[in-house]
Amino acid sequence: MVTMAAVDHFHLLYREISRSCNFYIEALAVVGAWYTIRKCMSLAVDTYSMLRLHVIPKLGGEIDLVKRYGKWAVVTGSTDGVGKAYAEELAKRGVNIILISRNKEKLEAVSKSISETYKVETDFIVADFSKGREPYPAIKEALKDREIGILVNNVGMFYSYPDYFTNLSEDILWDMINVNIASANMMTHIVLPGMLEKKKGAIVNVSSGSCCQPTPMLTIYGASKTYLDYFSRALHHECASKGIFVQSLTPFVISTKMTTLSGMAAKRSFFFPSAEEYASHAISTLGLSTRTTGYWKHAIKFTLGERLPEWIWAWFSLYIFRITRKEALTHEVK
Ligand SMILES: NC(=O)c1ccc[n+]([C@@H]2O[C@H](COP(=O)([O-])OP(=O)(O)OC[C@H]3O[C@@H](n4cnc5c(N)ncnc54)[C@H](OP(=O)(O)O)[C@@H]3O)[C@@H](O)[C@H]2O)c1
Repeated sequence: MVTMAAVDHFHLLYREISRSCNFYIEALAVVGAWYTIRKCMSLAVDTYSMLRLHVIPKLGGEIDLVKRYGKWAVVTGSTDGVGKAYAEELAKRGVNIILISRNKEKLEAVSKSISETYKVETDFIVADFSKGREPYPAIKEALKDREIGILVNNVGMFYSYPDYFTNLSEDILWDMINVNIASANMMTHIVLPGMLEKKKGAIVNVSSGSCCQPTPMLTIYGASKTYLDYFSRALHHECASKGIFVQSLTPFVISTKMTTLSGMAAKRSFFFPSAEEYASHAISTLGLSTRTTGYWKHAIKFTLGERLPEWIWAWFSLYIFRITRKEALTHEVK
């Protein structure tokens, strides 16, 4: 009798437990299905955006930049690297170019070469953006009667090599703020009112992939590029309805003088395009995406980088940059 009652109890208990388990299993299955559907949808959207941005423009016809934004473009930091290559891509599409950099001889040479090669008008302004407020009155005066359709805030500086914040000199701190942040603010402040008047224009701010997470040992460089990224995105929301397109370009390493000098990846390779290759991709995203790396291989890195937990990104950055710093210092001693 006692044994039968115990078996009955056990049976009952088992039925109760399996009933509630079924409920939990079903609930977990719903959560799992929801998660899978969300991940699949986000992957599909990412793939579509990547194709729309990096493949479709290459297949279809190019956007007529002159018609859409205007005849003239200003490109800062345009005698070398990305700035020069981007200026050439604009000129290839019939846009007249105003170059701004520090060195007059280099400006003359690049200006002449662009006008002869692409049969567009060119001009240049000599200016050093590390000099605080000094260069802007002259730039404003020089651009006064020009109808600027495109502004490319490309000028930027980097460290000699990745380093700890306290090792950086006061000069580097001020230069980084003036060249990487103030120049984009001031140039935009000079050019944007004219664009708003015409109700058309494009502003491209060259930020960096380092803005996708806080990057130790590139502390102020990364922070200055994050500033540009937020500045661009907020400005786009402010001005899009008035016909202005603002783009934040967030590339990873491009093989230029900047990366050579910093002792970082200097040679062109699968993930490190030349400035020319990068610019030819980046320009086809103008008018299509307000925030992009501008280059599909970098887009893969950015998507992965953004999804990493911050501590892994920071640990990895520290690991790589400590080695880079050590190599650069050893090189300096030799
Ligand atoms: N290279 C990369 O891996 C990479 C990655 C992400 C983002 N970026 C960003 O892309 C932009 C261009 O980089 P880049 O690699 O092409 O640089 P780069 O090869 O070093 O060229 C820099 C250009 O800026 C001019 N310049 C430098 N300091 C200046 C100043 N104080 N005032 C006026 N002009 C100045 C230089 O000409 P002069 O010396 O004749 O003045 C040169 O034309 C930067 O904003 C950088 O942060 C680069």
